[in-house]
Amino acid sequence: MCGIVGYVGRPGKTTGDHGALDVVLEGLRRLEYRGYDSAGVAVLGESGVESRKKAGKLVNLINELEANPLPESLTGIGHTRWATHGGPSDNNAHPHLADGGKLAMIHNGIIENFADLRQELLAAGYSFASETDTEVAAVLLGDIYAHAGGRDLATSMQLACQRLEGAFTLLAVHEDQPGVVVAARRNSPLVVGLGEGENFLGSDVSGFIDFTRRAVELGQDQIVTITPDHHAITDFYGNPAEGTEFHVDWDAAAAEKGGFDSFMEKEIFDQPAAVADTLLGRYDVDGRMTLDELRIDASDLAGISKIIVLACGTSAYAGSVAKYAIEHWCRIPVEVELSHEFRYRDPILDAGTLIVSISQSGETMDTLMAVRYAKEQGAKTLSICNTNGSTIPRESDAVLYTHAGPEIAVASTKAFLAQITATYVLGLYLAQLRGNLFSGQIKDILADLQDIPAKIQDVLDRADVIKELARSMPDATSVLFLGRHVGYPVAMEGALKLKEIAYIHAEGFAAGELKHGPIALIDDGQPVFVVVPSPRGRHSLHSKVVSNIQEVRARGAKTLVIAEAGDEAVRDYAEFVFHVPETPTLLMPLLATVPLQLFACELASVKGFDVDQPRNLAKSVTVE
Ligand code: G6P
Repeated sequence: MCGIVGYVGRPGKTTGDHGALDVVLEGLRRLEYRGYDSAGVAVLGESGVESRKKAGKLVNLINELEANPLPESLTGIGHTRWATHGGPSDNNAHPHLADGGKLAMIHNGIIENFADLRQELLAAGYSFASETDTEVAAVLLGDIYAHAGGRDLATSMQLACQRLEGAFTLLAVHEDQPGVVVAARRNSPLVVGLGEGENFLGSDVSGFIDFTRRAVELGQDQIVTITPDHHAITDFYGNPAEGTEFHVDWDAAAAEKGGFDSFMEKEIFDQPAAVADTLLGRYDVDGRMTLDELRIDASDLAGISKIIVLACGTSAYAGSVAKYAIEHWCRIPVEVELSHEFRYRDPILDAGTLIVSISQSGETMDTLMAVRYAKEQGAKTLSICNTNGSTIPRESDAVLYTHAGPEIAVASTKAFLAQITATYVLGLYLAQLRGNLFSGQIKDILADLQDIPAKIQDVLDRADVIKELARSMPDATSVLFLGRHVGYPVAMEGALKLKEIAYIHAEGFAAGELKHGPIALIDDGQPVFVVVPSPRGRHSLHSKVVSNIQEVRARGAKTLVIAEAGDEAVRDYAEFVFHVPETPTLLMPLLATVPLQLFACELASVKGFDVDQPRNLAKSVTVE
């Protein structure tokens, strides 16, 4: 939520063809998935701070820069906004200026005590050009810089941060200090990129991935000052601190569309690799799980008595799938809870509780706060995460990274499948530690998992069938999704995809719940997707869902069925059938989700919507 970029370069060393602005705009292009309500930049030119900002997507800022160019510069900051305080207008766009226009600031997060600070600064004679909390922080920093901070930007930032409450990443430049960007972070993301004679700051590594793969993660409540040749980290009181350097193992090409019309479509097609890469290196040739990367003692893990999965959005549905698999394989009770509900209900936690947080970004504030709360209560915390250097894994006792590669589209696809895969890896590992499954069984499940990437590819090879279905329904105003057992979270995810990007009313239901209410919604022509379980396995489940199809069809529904290859029993009751390859029931979500993703993606495109940047949403939600 809000993307932030900072850059300083030495003359002759800068990577951008035209200096700081190039680097900053490239970073904003890659970070635009974090918010697109407005965009803005500030550079330190010969004549001091100069800034341009525009409401709307980055392209509006680029047009503005063409009409009204900025001078060449080696120091710059840039921002792409997801509005919180103050609507998405030019005025509320960042950067915000202070100290008579000599200081520029950008911000991600929410400053909770901004109203009090604003009153204080108004009383001191300052005025404000916007409705934002950010401008309050900028004016505060300017005031401190001119007085208590001794005209030193880093010292002033420390003093300012001591007065701020809430969540913030702040970046500031001052015309007295060319070649310096000072940044601070509390509860919001920030990473440093290290170059040769130039350094970078970004909300995540995609902010500078075109220029360097060397990155430094920062801790909580830290300030970093970058110059072309150095970076220095302190806490909010000036005590020196160390960051942790890491290598970014994906390259810029992984974050390009690669010939697809949208990032989302490309990411759907990345899924065979996302699943394969998430499995890679996590078992040996004998089929034993080898999770040496986990930082929690095997004996501690073997002794846990309860798992609570914490997540939001799509990640929470991955958790719901995990519940079925982990409870079945490990016989450990698993609860799945939305992070934002969790800490407000006095949950029962102890040292035998393992918290498994699932987050693509590793920055979702609701999940971060829930993990912190659980830690305080004495639970062990394990993070399943796709983003190296992010906050949730850093603050957790253990981390299991998904290797989906960068996910740019706001609606999550490949991260979902990779998350489910990671939870299976975890479940099998726990079963091995606890002796719940024989090693032969683990080996068999692993063999089935290894077949999944090729089976996803089989679904993708038939994408046109699903796309055609989507193209035949441009006027749909409501679509229902039914599923049972692991098909239930798949139905929920299918509905979420459609809501997110096609803005169509969609609901996912447990098929068994239909008769308790939702069936009243069925009207003539109502499209209903039904995720049908395998007829092999638990036969009664299959026949119950087939009955559910008949029930909705009898009431006029248009039934769109996702079933297993060879399941011909559904044909008589379906307007449309898509077969996914055979796989054990617990692994079925890795296949059945894919046609639903393709359907939403195509329908949103047909309706002319921006598939990658849906209205009102942001990919990384760093506010509560
Ligand atoms: C936002 C995104 C969703 C995502 C959710 C959780 O709402 O729009 O696509 O599923 O956050 O994000 P996380 O990064 O924690 O997985």
